[in-house]
Amino acid sequence: RAREDAGRAPSLEALQQSLANFDGCRLKFTAKNLVFADGNPQAKIMLVGEAPGRDEDLEGRPFVGKAGQLLDRMLASIELDRTKVYIANVIYWRPPGNRTPTPMETEICRPFIERQIALVDPDILVFLGGVSAKSFLAGPDGILRLRGKWTEWTIPGGRTIPALPMLHPAYLLRQPAQKKLAWRDLLSLKKRASEMNLIGSSA
Ligand code: URA
Repeated sequence: RAREDAGRAPSLEALQQSLANFDGCRLKFTAKNLVFADGNPQAKIMLVGEAPGRDEDLEGRPFVGKAGQLLDRMLASIELDRTKVYIANVIYWRPPGNRTPTPMETEICRPFIERQIALVDPDILVFLGGVSAKSFLAGPDGILRLRGKWTEWTIPGGRTIPALPMLHPAYLLRQPAQKKLAWRDLLSLKKRASEMNLIGSSA
């Protein structure tokens, strides 16, 4: 069902509507809102997080709570903001109590996020955190090994584009000493994006 519904959506609006009509993910029944996306659908840089938390569930927008505020500061540090990136999650509804989504839940949502990426058609993908990175990249490595290493991801039916796994801002709030790794990765993102003429190279 997910594959059929997602594959049929000709636009982001249609995809959001088909998610709103989709009953195949049981998280929907405990969540208050569908959390689809934020930012600029025309952006060339797309960030994919894990799943909505409490604040996101209440507002229906990704990354609006504490982790989201840190994400905004991280983006600002390389002169990005939500007018210049597009943000979504691999999971569209809040898992109860913010538990980690199960592999089944991730699998069920996958056709939708893959279609969402295809419709945005970004030039760079950023996977925020291990759940996101591991849902797109095969292999046994965890986020602490994957982070900061550029890889590639092939948009279904589309181009192969550079992708960068990074530490999740919620993890950085719990482990502030790891912010130095995040800073390195942000600089790497900025450098690559400047080289691709996606952002100004001035700062
Ligand atoms: N964490 C995420 O991964 N996504 C959100 O939208 C909020 C917090």
